[in-house]
Amino acid sequence: MTKKTLKKAKKVGAGGELTDVLLASKKIYKPAVKITKEAVVKDWEKARSEADKDPLKYWEEAAKDLVWFKPWTQVLDKSQKPFYKWFIGGQTNLAYNAIDRWLNTPCEDKIAIMSEDETGRARKFTYKEVAREVNKIVNGLKGLGVKKGDRIAIYMPNIPEIAFAMLACAKIGAMHSVVYAGYSATALQDRINDASAKIVFTADGSWRRGKAINLKTVVDEAVKNCPSVEKVIVAKNNNQEVPFNPAKDIWLADLVKDQSTESQCAAMDAEDPAFVLYTSGTTSKPKGVVHVHGGYPVGVLRTMKWIWDIKDNDIFWCTADPGWITGHSYIIYGPLMAGVTTIMYEGTPDFPEQDHIWSMVEKYKVTILYTAPTLIRAMMSLGDDLPDKHEMPSLRLLGSVGEPINPKAWKWYYEHIGKSKRPVLDTWWQTETGCNMISPLPVTPLKAGSATKPFPGIQADILDMKGKKVPAGSGGYLVIKSPWPSMIRTVFNAPERYLKTYWHEIKGVFFTGDIGFKDKDGYFFIQGRTDDMLKIAGHRLGTAEVESAFVSHPAVAECGVIGVPDEIKGEVIKAFCILKKGFVGDDKLKDELKLHVRHTIGPVAVMKDVAFVDSLPKTRSGKIMRRILKAKELGLPLGDTSALI
Ligand code: WTA
Repeated sequence: MTKKTLKKAKKVGAGGELTDVLLASKKIYKPAVKITKEAVVKDWEKARSEADKDPLKYWEEAAKDLVWFKPWTQVLDKSQKPFYKWFIGGQTNLAYNAIDRWLNTPCEDKIAIMSEDETGRARKFTYKEVAREVNKIVNGLKGLGVKKGDRIAIYMPNIPEIAFAMLACAKIGAMHSVVYAGYSATALQDRINDASAKIVFTADGSWRRGKAINLKTVVDEAVKNCPSVEKVIVAKNNNQEVPFNPAKDIWLADLVKDQSTESQCAAMDAEDPAFVLYTSGTTSKPKGVVHVHGGYPVGVLRTMKWIWDIKDNDIFWCTADPGWITGHSYIIYGPLMAGVTTIMYEGTPDFPEQDHIWSMVEKYKVTILYTAPTLIRAMMSLGDDLPDKHEMPSLRLLGSVGEPINPKAWKWYYEHIGKSKRPVLDTWWQTETGCNMISPLPVTPLKAGSATKPFPGIQADILDMKGKKVPAGSGGYLVIKSPWPSMIRTVFNAPERYLKTYWHEIKGVFFTGDIGFKDKDGYFFIQGRTDDMLKIAGHRLGTAEVESAFVSHPAVAECGVIGVPDEIKGEVIKAFCILKKGFVGDDKLKDELKLHVRHTIGPVAVMKDVAFVDSLPKTRSGKIMRRILKAKELGLPLGDTSALI
């Protein structure tokens, strides 16, 4: 590597291991002959170039893999860009494509969902059984007056009932808004109120590392301040005692009792919203990312088939939670639309035993494992003998998602889990993109730590702030240059935020907020977010959201928050606080603040440290310059703060 290349690449600077990344970009891992022979797509570059020649034709072909009640008359409508519309005139339904389409086919008796919790309780549902469960909920919800277009919040653990609830909403045409069950009552309340949700689905509780977590009380605390909520539907999950108010609460079992196992599926226009999923942005208010019935499933199913190379007997385990987009697209909708078996594990994959993840792979004969770098790093730190204890011949493909995977973790995953013959597919994407966007296929020659190149039909690039291409090896902003079917349609109730966040930063392209570089072979190395976003163990949090939680404490006058590198979690929070007069910055207050933020946001806000300071670096307009805080913290020269973008 020349000095010049290193200097250029340093500009990318999300902290740590750039030398490793550069070295990694030199070595290519070729796919095994067997993989190529069996792959759905055999020639990666050809597939990419053919899709590029005529993307609309390509996506139109992809859309034909779904069932449509009425065909579209136009593939893409750009007339109100960037509010792009796809498959105009077409009618379909997301839930129909996941479940109903399989009824009366041989797939109906196949296991759709296998679930297990920390206590070892295991359940299985065939496609037919899922259809019945969903239909009973559909009928129950209709009895409560739920209609097409209503919003329904779902705050549940990773259990089959969350899938049933989501599918039931989609079937009626009501939008679900799943809120990760690790969020606090305040965070839940804000999301319910933003969407004016009418119903909330929850469970009595859940398990986490042997501890019973009470979810119902969190919901109770939240809905106290949510005037739109008419009913709370509670699934019995871990049978713990919970408060129950018969005027508002209904047990899920009672809702579905005596309901018919048949129900009508709403014919939805392709552009009708299917769900809203809140994600962090640059302000303290989360954004409701809206996805639709037509385009979203097109992107999810195509990536499912081509990246995950689906075969009829696949057992797909995505270890995410349905509370994030990864869970929506690749625990629930993707595997079900592809007609394979998906696994839902309620708990953390290193509990009850540290090697539980490998026991599960062995027990359920998982063929595709899709997980996050944080988990891979945690497993790596526990030693090679843990996976080595297990026989995992069923595994075909390994996936990574949610944050940059460092070459060291990539290689460990490839060598120790993949036995140097199964591809590691590093998939880059976002809540806003709906499906995998930059990713290898199983036949792609790989580089450790690179998501390789854009998926066929996706045009992505690295540009500077003026929208100009940057040379190979130089850092810049990741953008998507043309619309794609599963793209975000708008920010719920805030179209101006959609425009401002994604389309105003660099003219004419979709701004992802990520930074990275392309190497000389055109391989993408995505390094992290611009400095207003955090990725903690793959979970996305806005710095502004965390700062606003800090200043809601009576002791804090001002606060600046940054992400600092963490060997396992990728990034953790460090906060710099200016205290109000009369407060003393001691350890007691530190602990109190950490607890306060955890209570305001939820356990996802993993805090490394709180520092008490007298001043914060600011721009002339008063904006806190987090990049200066970060440069100081990481010991980078302040003059070179461009390195942090
Ligand atoms: C990050 C998760 C590097 C990125 C699917 C993105 C990644 C954000 C990768 C979206 C990857 C996701 N390599 N970074 N393979 N995958 N990211 O919305 O910063 O929870 O913008 O969606 O995660 O997070 P979100």
